[in-house]
Amino acid sequence: MAFNAPGGRGGRGGGFGARGGRGGGAGGRGGGRGGGFSARGGAGGGRGGARGGGRGGGRGGAPRGGGRGGAGGRGGRGGARGGKGGVGAKGGAKVILEPHRHPGVFVAKGKEHLLVTRNLVPGESVYGEKRISIEQPNADPNLPAEKVEYRVWNPFRSKLAAGILGGLDDIHIGPGKKVLYLGAASGTSVSHVADVVGPEGTVYAVEFSHRSGRDLVNMAKKRTNVIPIVEDARHPNKYRMLLSMVDVVFADVAQPDQARIVALNAHHFLKRGGHAVISIKASCIDSTAPAEAVFAAEVKKLQSEGFKPREQLTLEPYERDHAMLVATYSRDAAK
Ligand SMILES: C[S@@+](CC[C@H](N)C(=O)[O-])C[C@H]1O[C@@H](n2cnc3c(N)ncnc32)[C@H](O)[C@@H]1O
Repeated sequence: MAFNAPGGRGGRGGGFGARGGRGGGAGGRGGGRGGGFSARGGAGGGRGGARGGGRGGGRGGAPRGGGRGGAGGRGGRGGARGGKGGVGAKGGAKVILEPHRHPGVFVAKGKEHLLVTRNLVPGESVYGEKRISIEQPNADPNLPAEKVEYRVWNPFRSKLAAGILGGLDDIHIGPGKKVLYLGAASGTSVSHVADVVGPEGTVYAVEFSHRSGRDLVNMAKKRTNVIPIVEDARHPNKYRMLLSMVDVVFADVAQPDQARIVALNAHHFLKRGGHAVISIKASCIDSTAPAEAVFAAEVKKLQSEGFKPREQLTLEPYERDHAMLVATYSRDAAK
């Protein structure tokens, strides 16, 4: 199944692209997603191939999509990487841009449908992702049409993209918003969030690994709406002087005490009525309990900290045993 059209809720777990479908190959999930994200010439597939099968996908500018994945479980990461991240649709194929129902997110409809964000720094890829240049009417009707560049957002590399394709009703992250992003890593997803919030918004990106933090800081040199913070998110006091109040706390720290980390940061920085969007990786919290039980326990912890759950969905087929939870924060209810 092709990925959900903007506006629709979209199949939970439908494939991303025209081909490839899900699963495939022996060995269950992961194998053979391949063409899902892009059959050809697109951003390349997600996880492909047999376990340890190296990088599944396209070689940057090379016109083939991601690893098709043979037998086996999770393979290497496919596509959307590599090379210099080419520009333009394959062979000049016509691509139509449509706004997604989440403001600031778009769908490029060509041979495949690709989730994209408007590149804040035209001419540059952040992590080798594909760029697509699309001619659009100028805001001033007296001026000629202009080329606008978009970056392909791969749901196999970003839980937020996976959540969007999975059908989240509201990500609460949009143009002009202030987002506190916990677990920024090298800033690949953060860069798309920066595109989404645009020049009027701000992304405060917290990452405690100095190694990843270096990439994050470099990325933020050009994306001036990103404030990189190389600190432990368990100690929000250490960065309180850098932040104003935010609309959303996004968390992807993959830690057993993630709920506590989110709550601590919310109590410091989240507006009343603001939202938390949390990626929960069950095995990081309790590898012995069923994923559903782990998710339910996390929801309870957040409720006791003043959050009201709004929606929850699994990130299959992009991530196994992950859930995305969206909750509203009520300061008054917080302990
Ligand atoms: C799953 S990765 C995040 C991937 C990232 N969100 C993306 O989409 O590209 C989790 C990251 O959280 C970071 N992390 C874990 N615990 C943290 C903490 N207490 N404070 C800050 N960063 C933390 C890890 O170093 C790691 O880079």
